[in-house]
Amino acid sequence: MPSFVTHLEAAIDGTHLPSDTLQTLHKDRPLWVRYDLEAIASSLAKDKLGDREPTLWRYRELLPVNEQQDLISFGEGMSPLLPCRRLGETLGLSDLWIKDESQLPTGSFKSRGMAMAVTMAAHFGVKRIALPSAGNAGGAAAAYGARAGMEVYVFMPEDTPIINQYECVLGGAKTFVANGLITDCGKIVRDGRERMGWFDLSTLKEPYRIEGKKTMGLELAEQCGWKLPDVILYPTGGGTGLIGMWKAFDELAKMGWLESDKLPRMVSVQSEGCCPIVRAFETGERFAEPHVGADTIARGIRVPAAVGDFMILDAVRESGGCAVAVEEARIREWLELAISQEGISVCPEAAACVGAIEKLTANGWLKPDEQVVIFNTGAAQKYVEAITSPVPRIDLAQPIDWDVIAG
Ligand SMILES: Cc1ncc(COP(=O)(O)O)c(C=O)c1O
Repeated sequence: MPSFVTHLEAAIDGTHLPSDTLQTLHKDRPLWVRYDLEAIASSLAKDKLGDREPTLWRYRELLPVNEQQDLISFGEGMSPLLPCRRLGETLGLSDLWIKDESQLPTGSFKSRGMAMAVTMAAHFGVKRIALPSAGNAGGAAAAYGARAGMEVYVFMPEDTPIINQYECVLGGAKTFVANGLITDCGKIVRDGRERMGWFDLSTLKEPYRIEGKKTMGLELAEQCGWKLPDVILYPTGGGTGLIGMWKAFDELAKMGWLESDKLPRMVSVQSEGCCPIVRAFETGERFAEPHVGADTIARGIRVPAAVGDFMILDAVRESGGCAVAVEEARIREWLELAISQEGISVCPEAAACVGAIEKLTANGWLKPDEQVVIFNTGAAQKYVEAITSPVPRIDLAQPIDWDVIAG
């Protein structure tokens, strides 16, 4: 099976670029991968997907790979879409769901983007990759790089969750922490690119991570019987997932696969501690000003400046969605609420989405009976630093105090 990719297209000005060579940015902005959607629609019937393996590769016609290509994979994809009745009731919603990406390889949705980016980099003969990371992308790059036999360099802020640091080290990546933010780490990769012979795998600086993240949207559509939910809440850092899902819905609509014309309203969720996209949304700007002094315990969304800011904002606006910043000090509370009510390993980034629901139901933007999906982008276990509740101790030299145990 050949790839159905026709070309790459610059997101900033529509310039076409060839897809048969390794590409990065155009005018310092990202590229879209474009497909012959008509040819895909006539060669694949959506009801045939059920016969394929339950991984993201089942959508291969809508991905940049061809059948002869080696896939760098751990069998990722098809994360469960879980109903959340108890949490929904607490938040005043009757139809709340969590798409649980914490169950993917390396414990986060980053495996989708890395599976695609590393597969394509290997296809083009890349041997050495480098990236800045807020944590989960680094861990995923280390794992996929190891599987591809590549040399991997990861640069992270020094207060990145320790589990993320360890997964990079254990994956054999040359791992460094720096006393700054992800944008400072991005500069190290940019500055070292030529000297070190790195291929830059930073968010949106090559075209294929979006295609991997796009599969969240393809999967959601399939799991919902090709009728998309009313609202999607997505914790936004660099925005690849939100951009990718919106692209997926556009492609599915063009292929005539969706059962309804109504697309979801996309909600970009950030913390008040780092909310460049929300500020630009509120002031009506297409490009976001960098957030000065960015900080949040939801490290994955501590991205003060995103190279695809306009792509995130375009998607949110086109969808009739919105961008919401939530109170930083309450993220832990929402995290504990979601995990204790549903048992899902909700990361702080997704906990921010719970806060956004509180805000959006209070102001009437979300209606109680709307179908709402939160993307749980990672596993709570990776964020030991964010958990502050002490565990009570039992002294075995003393009689057990059952009243204490009963609480
Ligand atoms: C758990 C988690 N959620 C959300 C994000 C933000 O993802 P995106 O870059 O797609 O906005 C990240 C990125 O590091 C993350 O690790």
